Parts: sequence; structure tokens; C-alpha cells
Amino acid sequence: MVRETALHPRDFILPLFLHEDAEDTPISSMPGVTRWSLESLVREAGEAHALGIPAVVLFPKIDDSLKSPLPEECHNDGGLIPRAIRALKAAHPTLCVITDIALDPYNSDGHDGVVRRDDHGELTILNDETVAILCEQALCHAKAGADIVAPSDMMDGRVAAIREALDDAGFQHVSILSYTAKYASAFYGPFRGALDSAPKDGDKKTYQMDPGNSREAVRETLLDEAEGADMLMVKPAGPYLDIIARVRETTTLPVAAYQVSGEYLMLKSAAAAGWLDEKAVALESLTGIKRAGADMILTYFAKQAAQWLAEG
Ligand code: PBG
Repeated sequence: MVRETALHPRDFILPLFLHEDAEDTPISSMPGVTRWSLESLVREAGEAHALGIPAVVLFPKIDDSLKSPLPEECHNDGGLIPRAIRALKAAHPTLCVITDIALDPYNSDGHDGVVRRDDHGELTILNDETVAILCEQALCHAKAGADIVAPSDMMDGRVAAIREALDDAGFQHVSILSYTAKYASAFYGPFRGALDSAPKDGDKKTYQMDPGNSREAVRETLLDEAEGADMLMVKPAGPYLDIIARVRETTTLPVAAYQVSGEYLMLKSAAAAGWLDEKAVALESLTGIKRAGADMILTYFAKQAAQWLAEG
């Protein structure tokens, strides 16, 4: 009766991995998580939706032969993601389909942006060239029926550019969930293994945020709000609860938090070793993220947590 924060399946967004193969592949770096075929993806999303989960977010593993330095495949209307969006919306019209906007799965360099190398091998991420391609990617997903596009690339000015590109093409109704405060985190390791999307060289510290920074998250919040974001995200979640709370106080927009692959893996592996009670720690960590101020939580526990909550 006096509990202030209670979890509900509608708080969760389920991240789903997919690939071109007809077989489903368990992801070894993320126990309990699978890379799905298109057909299984539709089934899995349907099961999650039936448990009360309103939304999924899609992450593709792209064949090496389709990766390139100016990743054209990321806006191919016949590509894996547009086909997945169409299949999901046809099978589950009330499911909210969110797509990731970033170049890394398609980029032969493995970075979220376009890379230039100088004569000394020094590497620069080309912000504005990248933003133009991100707009094409967002349009491609909107055309296929995506409800929300979620730029995770951290380029400057991309929210305003994507908003304008969507509006100009008649997609005023497609929302933007911006990765507002996305930190350069070692907790993404297992995810990059799952998609084979780790940077070939260099790191993401020139565009993702410094874990020591908190005021910068406020600045990014104000910028994304002014640029027209509909929802803001903090990522990772558990080690950044203060940032979730600070973003929550700074904006009136809905706030999402992403419990990332490394956070999931820590709890999963400790539970597998018999050291922690999986259900208890998973629900406690998700409660903490919601208590800090997140309206929505992207979590690999989404389906299982919805089942646990139904058990009571
Ligand atoms: C890349 C992207 C990443 C994640 C989501 N989108 C990895 C990265 O920035 O390198 C990480 C998610 C996770 O670790 O669960 N655009």
C-alpha cells in the first residue's frame, strides 16, 4: 500500500537481435539471449507483447559482405530491418516498433559514424557526413512502418536533422527516442560481440560521453529537447542512476534507461554460479532504475521480468 515504485510489464522495452539466417543462434556472450531469424523474431515479439510489453527495439547483425565505409546498406529499403519492421507491424499491429539509428552494424569500420583516416592512421569521425546518412536510415525505417526511431550514434545535431527529414517526407507522426546521455562504457562489450560490431580501431570516446561527466548530461538533455526529441534515454542504467535522476529533473519529456548487455551479464553470470538469486536481483535492479526516474526501461530481462511479475 505504501510502496512508491512498482514495476509493470508496460515499463519494459525488449531489445531483439536478428540476422538473415533461417536458424536462431544463441548469443554466447549473453546467456538467454538469441539472435533470431525473421520468422522467430515475429513469434518472440508476439510472445512479449502478449505478456504486456508494449515495445521492442531491433538490432541487426549484418553480413560482412554488406558492410562498407559509407554504409549504404543502412538505408536499403529491401534490407533486413525494413523487412523486419513490415513483418512485425503486419503480425502485431499494436506492438510499438523502435529501431536503432546508428551506422555501426553496417560500417566496415565498426564505428557509429563515418571514419576518415589521415596519413598517420589517425582517425576522425565525420559528424555532419554521418548525420546525413542517419537521416536516410531514419527515413528508410519510417517508410517501412517504424513507430519510433532511436538514434544511438551520439553525433551532434542529429535529432534536429532527423526530425526535419521525417517531417519533410510526411512522417510527422514518427517519434524520436534520443540516446541523450550515452556514455563511452565498457558495459557494452557483450553487445558488440553479439553483433560483431566492435570498432576495428580506436574507441567511441570522441562521440560517447565521459563516465565522469554529469553536467554534460544536462546540456545534452536541453539540446535534444530543443532539437525536437520526443523521449530521452540514459545509457547504461545501473551505474548511472544519478544521471537518470538528473535528466528526469531537467526535462518534462518521458525518460528511458537502457540496462545494457554488461549489466545483464553480471546478474546472469552471478545467478548461474549460484551466487545471486536471479529473479530477486533482476527485479530489484529494474526497480532501482524506475525509482531513479525512468519511465521506460530497455532490458534483456523484459520478457522474463513480465513473467515474474505475473507470478507475483
Ligand atoms: C551502437 C549501440 C550499442 C548498444 C546499443 N546500440 C553499442 C555501442 O555503442 O558500442 C549497446 C547495448 C548493450 O550493450 O546492451 N549504436
